[in-house]
This record gives sequence, structure tokens and C-alpha cells, in this order.
Amino acid sequence: MNNNTKKIVALLLAAVITLSFAACAKKDAGEKSSSISLGTSADYPPFEFIYLDDNGGKQYAGIDISLGQKIAEDMGKELNIVNMNFDSLIAALGKGEIDMVIAAMEIDEERTDAADASEAYYTALPDMILVKEENAGQYSSVDDFSGKSVGAQTGTTKADVVTDVLTGAKLVGLTSVTDLVNELVYDKCDAIVLDGAVALQYAASHDGLVVADVELGEAAPFVVWVQKGDPKGLLESINATIASAAESGEIDKWIAEADTLSDKAIEG
Ligand code: ARG
Repeated sequence: MNNNTKKIVALLLAAVITLSFAACAKKDAGEKSSSISLGTSADYPPFEFIYLDDNGGKQYAGIDISLGQKIAEDMGKELNIVNMNFDSLIAALGKGEIDMVIAAMEIDEERTDAADASEAYYTALPDMILVKEENAGQYSSVDDFSGKSVGAQTGTTKADVVTDVLTGAKLVGLTSVTDLVNELVYDKCDAIVLDGAVALQYAASHDGLVVADVELGEAAPFVVWVQKGDPKGLLESINATIASAAESGEIDKWIAEADTLSDKAIEG
């Protein structure tokens, strides 16, 4: 090799070494990221909601938030909560904008095409229909909702219940449950289909709203969602946290805590 060739080889080597260092550094930052982001739709007490603490600061709380905090803690990471519309969650997960979704989101075939699910952490009550107390006498079967405007959150299994079970009802689909509740309060719709625990919570915290005496089917269990194929390798740890929280009774403690705090839920 003449001197010039040596120089070129040395420069090339240096470039290769620099590049591979850069690649390593990037990979490390990803793997050892000190926080994990949780996507949710905080309009769903007792699962996820916002309340004002004693200093007037906005805080997230609920069963799903407690589970998210425990998942992060078990991984040795900080939890970063990202609040968005329910119907944007799976897409945001797909794009890697968030690491996991916990949003009272049921296991569902369509969703499993786009994301991976954990084991179940909560077995839901049957779905329930929230109505105005003054109109509750009109409803004793699903047929009584024929011709009525029935609200459900966009992208949820409750919207499917309106179309598939309350046949004859007109679906009022909105992205936010708090907006739906306002529509009901101001008579812009006649009823809202919600997960059972959520309907009971809104009935308890809003004078004049009650759960209709009409039976609907069971909801599917709630699961934690991660990106399809779990590229960040989170599911094993998430499932371990769910198993230990169920066994230790922690989940029941979170449910009790959420029930107490839910009365303080405010509109995000
Ligand atoms: N359980 C329903 C579903 O899986 C509704 C969940 C709505 N969640 C929320 N955080 N707003 O589609």
C-alpha cells in the first residue's frame, strides 16, 4: 500500500467505527429508555379519569392508571401518560407514538389484527344504558330504544352494541364520553351505552341520570395493548405485573381507590 491508500483505508475505518458507535448509542437509548408511555382516553371513570388535587392540579387516576404505574414501576421506568381520543389509540400505538394502551379496551378480533394483547386484567360487568331518571319508566326492553337517539363513544364496542343490539335506534357517535354525557343531560340524545362500571359511576355522580332496567350482554375482558409483534419486548413484563397484582389483591385495592376518587372526576 502506498501512503495515500493507507490514508484512505484509515479514514474509511474511522468512518465505519464512528457509524457503529452511533448505531449502538441509538439502540441503547431506545432499550434503556427511562420512561414508558401509556396512551389512554381519560373520560372513563372508574378506569381512567382526571381529577383536581388539593392544590387544583390536574391528576390522572383510575384502575388502568394504577395498573400502568405498577407496570412502569416493575420495569424500573417512569410512567408518561398521553391522553387522547379513544379512537386514535390503536393508530398511535401502531406508529410507535405510545408504548402501550390501557383504556378499558376489550379484547376484540379486529384490534388483534393491529396490536398485541396482554392477559386479561379485568372482567367487565354487563354493558349498561344510561338514561335520564325522568324517562327511565319508558324503557324495559331493548326494543323500547327503537327510534331513539342512543350515544356511544366512537371506535368502541359500545357503538357496535347500539347498531347490533339496539336495532332501530339512531347511533349518536362522539369521540368523548364526557361530551356524550352532556348531550344526555341537555336532551340532545336519549341514552348512552357504556361499560357497566362506567354507567354506574356516571349515574352516581350526576343527579338525574340512572341506569335503565334493561339487560345487555357481557362485555369482553379488558387487556393491555402493545404494538403488533411487541417489538419493544414489553408483554412478558406486563403479564407478570398483571398476574402478581391479581394474586396479591392489589387490583381490588385499585378498584376500591378508583371508586372513591371517581366522584371527583372532572371533564378533561
Ligand atoms: N370497553 C369499550 C371498548 O373496548 C369502551 C372503552 C372506552 N374506554 C375509554 N377509556 N373511553 O371498546
